[in-house]
Amino acid sequence: MLKVGIIGCGDIANLNALGYIRSQDAELVAVCDTDLKTAGEKLERWGLRTVKIYTDYKKMIDREDLDIVEILTPHHLHAPMTEYCAKAGVSGISVQKPMAHTISDCDIMIQVCKEENVKLKLFENFRFYPVYLRAKGLLEQGVIGELLNFRINTVSTGGPGMPRGLNSLIWRVKVDVCGGGPMVYDDGIHKFSMALWLMGQERVAKVYGWIDYFSKVIDEPSYIFWKYPSKNSDEPPKCGTMEFTMAPNLYYPSNYYECDEFIEISGTKGIMWINQCTSGGNFISKTPQYPPIVVYVNGEVKSFGEDLPRDWRYSFINSTEHFIDIIKNGGEPIYTGEQGRALCVFAKMPYISSQQKRIVYWEEINAENEEDRSCVVEEPLEADPNGLTAFYRRKRKDFKKGINQGLEHTDFKYQYDQ
Ligand SMILES: NC(=O)c1ccc[n+]([C@@H]2O[C@H](COP(=O)([O-])OP(=O)(O)OC[C@H]3O[C@@H](n4cnc5c(N)ncnc54)[C@H](O)[C@@H]3O)[C@@H](O)[C@H]2O)c1
Repeated sequence: MLKVGIIGCGDIANLNALGYIRSQDAELVAVCDTDLKTAGEKLERWGLRTVKIYTDYKKMIDREDLDIVEILTPHHLHAPMTEYCAKAGVSGISVQKPMAHTISDCDIMIQVCKEENVKLKLFENFRFYPVYLRAKGLLEQGVIGELLNFRINTVSTGGPGMPRGLNSLIWRVKVDVCGGGPMVYDDGIHKFSMALWLMGQERVAKVYGWIDYFSKVIDEPSYIFWKYPSKNSDEPPKCGTMEFTMAPNLYYPSNYYECDEFIEISGTKGIMWINQCTSGGNFISKTPQYPPIVVYVNGEVKSFGEDLPRDWRYSFINSTEHFIDIIKNGGEPIYTGEQGRALCVFAKMPYISSQQKRIVYWEEINAENEEDRSCVVEEPLEADPNGLTAFYRRKRKDFKKGINQGLEHTDFKYQYDQ
């Protein structure tokens, strides 16, 4: 039985724990959080009251002989924690996305894990969402031909969503801790991941970004455009766009975060639409207009994936099961440290573009340029902490309006035992 420890028992720990709770091959033996109460509440919720709690992660690593550690803390802690675990002999380290707040920290993590022969996994769960896996299979079969254009819209809604700690929001709006903003950098990593993986690409060539801070601290609405590298001169140009839409007055129940994603991929033979991810399973999923995958090809429209679970939790469970499997049986993690670093590079490009009002090239985002500060994401110039309060006041008002209209979402509950 593989012994597992979790560092950081905040919001996302609820989802990262699921794959271990139901595993026959791995067992959660210890958790660590600087906030003892939070750790205790989580264990209570997971039905694991006897698991040991630490408030100092170094003590947990030194005292428990762990095979796997899950790092679920704010981004600036990912590198020092990875380094300590790797040097202490933990064989598998899974770090929640984004890999780190800086590219130089990503480089350190890759290097130390290589030296210590540790499997380093960047935990990006969209890559394991059942609907996206089916879409990838169809794309690989060539259902819409050669892929030309990728488009993803993330709509930040008014919820209701899962309850979240205020602390979880506070560190995300500190650029030197987060590495960017809460939407384009933190949440965006998932979307940049899909823009590469679904399109069969490892990187982009150049990016142009326009990032607004309507609420003064949250980096949306935002619009990002890019071009993939051309492999041959005779191939058509391949491009992509990403939108972050701010819709705080949109009543849109979710069991998880208050957002959802809509993807459109155009190919030489057809078009694919992929409906919903984070809030999949809500009432939109149950309408005939929003099947998980829709494909137009040769004058016909077909839908796919109605048999799949549209609950976001399966992306976490599948990702954890994959990591347990490779620690037990060998293989490469999805994603590797290098792939995790590439996602950080991609996610930083739109900020640098928006700050410097120009197209940014992939090669410009590296540790050396962080050193001379030519590729460092800056605090938004007009940031005003009062904006956040105003933003939440407005969200709450619209949220109440929805409930008063009888729109409360009741038929889809968050459970751990499924
Ligand atoms: N995959 C996803 O969809 C997804 C969603 C949310 C968050 N995340 C990622 O998960 C990570 C954690 O995010 P979160 O939303 O759970 O944050 P959070 O703020 O809710 O939780 C972080 C926890 O870490 C604890 N912590 C802080 N410093 C610590 C230390 N030195 N030692 C031990 N514990 C410490 C805090 O007390 C807190 O409980 C981040 O990397 C975030 O980007 C991923």
